[in-house]
Amino acid sequence: MRDEPAPGDPGLFDRFVAPLDPPLVIVTTVHDGERSGCIVGFHAQCSIEPRRYAIWLSKTNHTFGVALHAEHFAVHVVDQDHRALAELFGGTSGDRIDKFARCAWTPGVGGVPLLDDLTDRLVARRISWMDDGGDHACLTLEPLVVEGSPSTVVVRASELAHLTPGHAADEPT
Ligand SMILES: Cc1cc2nc3c(=O)[nH]c(=O)nc-3n(C[C@H](O)[C@H](O)[C@H](O)COP(=O)(O)O)c2cc1C
Repeated sequence: MRDEPAPGDPGLFDRFVAPLDPPLVIVTTVHDGERSGCIVGFHAQCSIEPRRYAIWLSKTNHTFGVALHAEHFAVHVVDQDHRALAELFGGTSGDRIDKFARCAWTPGVGGVPLLDDLTDRLVARRISWMDDGGDHACLTLEPLVVEGSPSTVVVRASELAHLTPGHAADEPT
């Protein structure tokens, strides 16, 4: 017999999604000279024609505040050789440190920071925002530049389970 989801019991949901174990990307953006970026596990292609990509940003993150006003975004796939970058972008906050002083980057379209070490990436323009009242909000992106072809040796969310995020999604905003 299948488990019936008990109202208000997130445990069944958590057990459902845990094995899906998404690959991690680093999303960067810029607005008015302020750069920001964080690790994102909530992301996916969300349209075939036209091609669209969706990312979900935590409302507590520094990146969210910059993204609210930003037009351009870069989505970088993280491979196993660059776990340190994943730890920088997922374990520290732009509210406290300048992540871009600690890694090599080059400005791309609209000044969006492109991480020199992560060359499998897409650069995109924001199409829409969707806030359904959860602790993350969704942005849909139109790809402008696509570079590289990600290998299968990506870093997955379970591999950073030890990391304390720079911001917890459930902290007060
Ligand atoms: C495995 C993992 C997955 C994460 N997924 C997301 C995500 O999908 N969206 C998001 O906004 N933050 C996500 N985070 C949290 C941010 O990357 C983290 O809080 C980061 O330090 C925020 O940096 P910022 O304050 O400079 O934006 C994730 C963190 C980890 C460790």
